[in-house]
Amino acid sequence: MSILNTLFYSEDQSVPISEKKILLKHVLNKSHEEINIGFDTHLKYSELHQYKELILRRKKSEPIAYIINKKDFWKDTFFVDNSVLIPRPDSEIIIETVIKYFPNQNESLQILDLGTGSGCLIISLLKEFKNSKGVGIDFDKKALEVAKHNKYNLLNNDRLKFYYSDFSEFNSLSYDLIVCNPPYISTLSKGNLMIDVRDFEPESALFAEEDGLYCYKIILDNLIKHENKKQLIIFEVGYGQSDSINKLLKNANFKVISVEEDISHIPRCIVAKRI
Ligand SMILES: C[S@@+](CC[C@H](N)C(=O)[O-])C[C@H]1O[C@@H](n2cnc3c(N)ncnc32)[C@H](O)[C@@H]1O
Repeated sequence: MSILNTLFYSEDQSVPISEKKILLKHVLNKSHEEINIGFDTHLKYSELHQYKELILRRKKSEPIAYIINKKDFWKDTFFVDNSVLIPRPDSEIIIETVIKYFPNQNESLQILDLGTGSGCLIISLLKEFKNSKGVGIDFDKKALEVAKHNKYNLLNNDRLKFYYSDFSEFNSLSYDLIVCNPPYISTLSKGNLMIDVRDFEPESALFAEEDGLYCYKIILDNLIKHENKKQLIIFEVGYGQSDSINKLLKNANFKVISVEEDISHIPRCIVAKRI
């Protein structure tokens, strides 16, 4: 069967053609251009079978990134599976904000990434800041395996370490910069989420009690134990949460330095320092 027929005339109209192309590209290990122009290429039976299996998984709402085990973030492609949150383009604002606050990328910073997941934030930062060192922590051992895999593929050197630890106990004293994209979706709004997210991504990476604020609270309770007035902290925040997080920060004796907005003018991350 030709690629054209496979893409356009298969009975699975519920999967958009753009997604079918990604899945086919994955099965055939071809570039996007090759798939676009390769209309007279023929598929082997085994390839067609594999492609149909992937289409079936997508029809059941499994995210494309988990099916092909890949997601682009910042300047790299990260390995992902269902033990980590799929890196979101929105989170790239954290990298942009770090570069805004530390324009000299030759600086040697000590960077801590709380809730590292796939490792996308700390790996991207250490690739930008080539003289810096970093640590990523997570309380999910499987997520740490994925982060280590990405470190091995994308930044294979000892500037980066991963530790199994909880937000409530890690000693953050020696870091110049802390970045954190914690779980922030309120457990009460589970029902409103797309099935792709709700049924496939790890609950512990998505949801938090107390209107989604629980993790910010335990992180701040821990940070105040280790006072470092020079340290900058950058939190990603959920839609509509920035005022509440500003208050939490002020109550914990932090001063909010800026609130960074995404291209739709939605507050996406908060930069703060100890008073
Ligand atoms: C929203 S995901 C962020 C992943 C990654 N940093 C990113 O931006 O794509 C949050 C991560 O925090 C971890 N996490 C949640 N609660 C935690 C806790 N109490 N202590 C340590 N890690 C935690 C989860 O396992 C998950 O990997």
